[in-house]
Amino acid sequence: MKLRVPGDKSITQRALILATLAEGESHLTGLLPAEDPRSTAAALRALGGGIPTLPSDGSEVRIRGLGLRGLRAPPGPLDLGNSGTGARLLLGVLAAQEFSSVVTGDSSLRSRPMGRVAQPLQAMGADFGWLQEPGHLPVEIRGGRALRSVDLDLPVASAQVKSALLLAGVASGVPVLLTEPGRSRDHTERMLTGAGAPVLSHVRGPGRRVELRDPPGALRPLEMTVPGDPSSATFPVLAALLGVGCGEVTVEGVGLNPTRTGMVELFRRMGGAVVLEVAGEEGGEPVGTLAARSSDLRAVEVTEADVVAAIDELPAIAVAAARAEGTTRITGAGELRVKETDRIRALVENLRAVGVRCEELDDGLEVEGTDAPLRGRVDPRHDHRIAMVFGVLAAQAGNDIEVEGREVVEVSFPGFWRFLEELRRHG
Ligand code: S3P
Repeated sequence: MKLRVPGDKSITQRALILATLAEGESHLTGLLPAEDPRSTAAALRALGGGIPTLPSDGSEVRIRGLGLRGLRAPPGPLDLGNSGTGARLLLGVLAAQEFSSVVTGDSSLRSRPMGRVAQPLQAMGADFGWLQEPGHLPVEIRGGRALRSVDLDLPVASAQVKSALLLAGVASGVPVLLTEPGRSRDHTERMLTGAGAPVLSHVRGPGRRVELRDPPGALRPLEMTVPGDPSSATFPVLAALLGVGCGEVTVEGVGLNPTRTGMVELFRRMGGAVVLEVAGEEGGEPVGTLAARSSDLRAVEVTEADVVAAIDELPAIAVAAARAEGTTRITGAGELRVKETDRIRALVENLRAVGVRCEELDDGLEVEGTDAPLRGRVDPRHDHRIAMVFGVLAAQAGNDIEVEGREVVEVSFPGFWRFLEELRRHG
């Protein structure tokens, strides 16, 4: 079955921010019309940005940019909802403004660490005031600080932190040099370079050196089609591997940036028939097809080196492991604890709830594969990716699994349940 998935969530949010900061009119097609990008769009509107309603069919959106100095003080707190990317990237932009602002989010986002963004921004001269708990939203970003150039060694490989710093550099016109300990997704580097703010990077050990040496006075508007989200494509791929529907899918028009496709290698190491084919480029990103077919899976050992490029897909690997022969061990994945929920805990509790044996580790989990029918209720803890991976497991013939709080998928994949039902019946 040939299919497509909605636009990339990371790229959509970056596109909205960069189009707002650019000089001139951007033309964006394929933007993801989901809750996270809507939160980011609403925050940018409150800052004066001219972002229309995101069309549900991904048709073209025109955004007239305000320029690097054109944002204005928002009338109230900026509520980023569930969007970690929106909140963290905007902290970088807001740190460079003349005015002060407050950023907040839903209870999940308020529980996630923000000190990891604030600290390096403080090294640039930014000023933050935590309004409730130190290191957590809501936070006041006190404007009017002249930011200075930095050269930093980041302690975590986080694309959100890296992007916040690069955006602060661009918005305030100062160089930003950094070293990241792993190779986190590089969409911001590619998009900034495309907009006329060249970011150079090279591999350094297991990580990368990233340099914005010459921030320009203005960003060029964007002309791009946002590729399908490889994280969303992982659900039909997992479904095919598990034999849901006809046990075969080809996802077309999906982003295949190598910093995002770590799951392909992991599925292959499990014996999964997954083929990735790059067909071309869109807005500086490789795009192509991901095809998968029903496979006999075996356990895999996932270690720290595998984690960054597959971070959002580890829940899918854990669910595949529940249907693989042997015991899968995932380690070096402590970052899962600070996602939309503690994903290690959520995976362990829900796998157990449907009858899979597993163990919680500090920085990962162990999953014992089984071919017995799985039954039970899943509580995704308001986490879209947990809901969707268990949704796929529920669609496997012979299982009787009920996923609660299904509406949470709207965060990143509108229409997911219809999509899955289609796959199950006709796929
Ligand atoms: C994202 C970066 C990753 C990822 C998240 C989206 C981004 O988070 O897990 O879903 O768009 O930059 P971290 O930066 O916290 O690793």
